[in-house]
Amino acid sequence: MKHSQLIVTVARDTPTTEAVGIPVTSDKSVPADLGVSRAQLAAAGFDGKVGQTLVVPSSGKTTLIAVGVGEGNSATAHDLRNAAAALARTASKHASLSTTLASIGRDNRAEVAQAVTEGLMLASHRYAALKSDKAFASKLKSVVLVVESKSLGSAANGSRRGTIVGEAVCMARDFANMPPAHLTAKMFADRAQQVASSTGLRVDVYDKDKLIAMGCGGIVGVNRGSVNPPRMVKLTYRPSKSAGKGKTSGKTKKSAAPHLIMVGKGVMYDSGGISLKPSNPSHAMMKADMSGAAAVLAAMSTLKSLGCKNQVTAYLMCTDNLPSGSAMAMGDVLTMRNKKTVEIHNTDAEGRLILADGLSLAAEDEPDAIVDIATLTGACAAALGPKMCGVMGNDSKFIDQVLTASKAVDEDAWQLPLERSYRRMLDSYIADMKNVGGGEAGAITAALFLDEFTGGTPWAHLDIAGPMWADNDAGWLQRGATAYGTRLLVNLAENFRR
Ligand code: BES
Ligand code: ZN
Ligand code: ZN
Repeated sequence: MKHSQLIVTVARDTPTTEAVGIPVTSDKSVPADLGVSRAQLAAAGFDGKVGQTLVVPSSGKTTLIAVGVGEGNSATAHDLRNAAAALARTASKHASLSTTLASIGRDNRAEVAQAVTEGLMLASHRYAALKSDKAFASKLKSVVLVVESKSLGSAANGSRRGTIVGEAVCMARDFANMPPAHLTAKMFADRAQQVASSTGLRVDVYDKDKLIAMGCGGIVGVNRGSVNPPRMVKLTYRPSKSAGKGKTSGKTKKSAAPHLIMVGKGVMYDSGGISLKPSNPSHAMMKADMSGAAAVLAAMSTLKSLGCKNQVTAYLMCTDNLPSGSAMAMGDVLTMRNKKTVEIHNTDAEGRLILADGLSLAAEDEPDAIVDIATLTGACAAALGPKMCGVMGNDSKFIDQVLTASKAVDEDAWQLPLERSYRRMLDSYIADMKNVGGGEAGAITAALFLDEFTGGTPWAHLDIAGPMWADNDAGWLQRGATAYGTRLLVNLAENFRR
């Protein structure tokens, strides 16, 4: 199943299309094709800033759209991703578009073409399945990126990569936007199975009985209040050109390719459980509390077509969190996969409980590093807002790789300290720990909780509670579930070094 309807191609000659996007700087001369002067543009409120667009009235059949690209030729690939997104929105009433956006800017052609393709695809995406009004979806179906012949090859390759990544992000957004009853843990696991088989991944699905047998008390405990059983999905990607020719020594087989494991929080709906969230319409977005798992699935789906050289494994931890007569209660003590015991002090701190089992299993696989991604704490959203996710971990070299990936894809991340002295806030009089700290440093105590299950493996944790949702369209972000972190994970998986 396709999640993006847009097809982006690269060509040397300008084809005939319904609309044309013409890049306009804020300082250099206005392209003659536009047929207007700088003064006329300025009078219409257009000054060429990145992300500005203006439909220029013209007598011909083709709609001309001015797209701001900032000063001179200084636009970065990130600027051009946002410019392309703005163009896609302005052109959304037209079926076809051509633009030279991918032939400008200071970054290399492949990178720019990838970013422009992503911007076009991400800003054209709508979760339209439940809208009767078919005009809700973008009409844009095809975009041709016109580039000089000498960069045709690299631009085509970049655009191909952009299409793979763009489709993955749209997929993650579709899953995260789906209402809870439309996507239960079982349905999500079924969809993950389809995705895996069409993208060259091995997939293993674990049902409730298996999870109980495996001692996964966290995910089983959280699931107790629900009539919908949990699922854990394990995805395995191995690079094809067997990089695994390295020496295998002793009992533990170390593949030559670096091995990364990604763990995603897949809370299909978070009501808070017995610690019920107050009734607030904004909590409808708690259907997207599986955004971490969606981002991991989406990122995994790209690896084969992108030719990722690393070995990557994923655990999607899927269940909802609901109150009922059988739900876990405050004071209950859960035994997690790694045998540590957890006293429940708030059933709404459920994400860490399901991640605990996923991280324990990941650590047992002895990878070179583990990254988890989760809509984990309101505290992180309160601290950093919607523009960036929080990053914490136990290994500065690996955290730096995560931060580098974040910069490369323009999904901002900010490191918070894993302040070990706060660990005592999790102390329990009856069990190894409580599932919540005190009132302060909620993002950090959540990470300290997760740290207990990593077995010392290099690990980084992404708390995406802030940026998982967008209230408005802006740049490549589209209102609703954002699938934040998908592109970061793709970049990390490709560039990971042990
Ligand atoms: N899923 C929420 C966190 C969240 C909040 C995600 C806002 C996205 C937007 C998580 O399960 C949760 O409820 N966390 C609690 C933890 C608290 C009880 C320690 C929170 O942040 O309030
Ligand atoms: Zn919760
Ligand atoms: Zn949650």
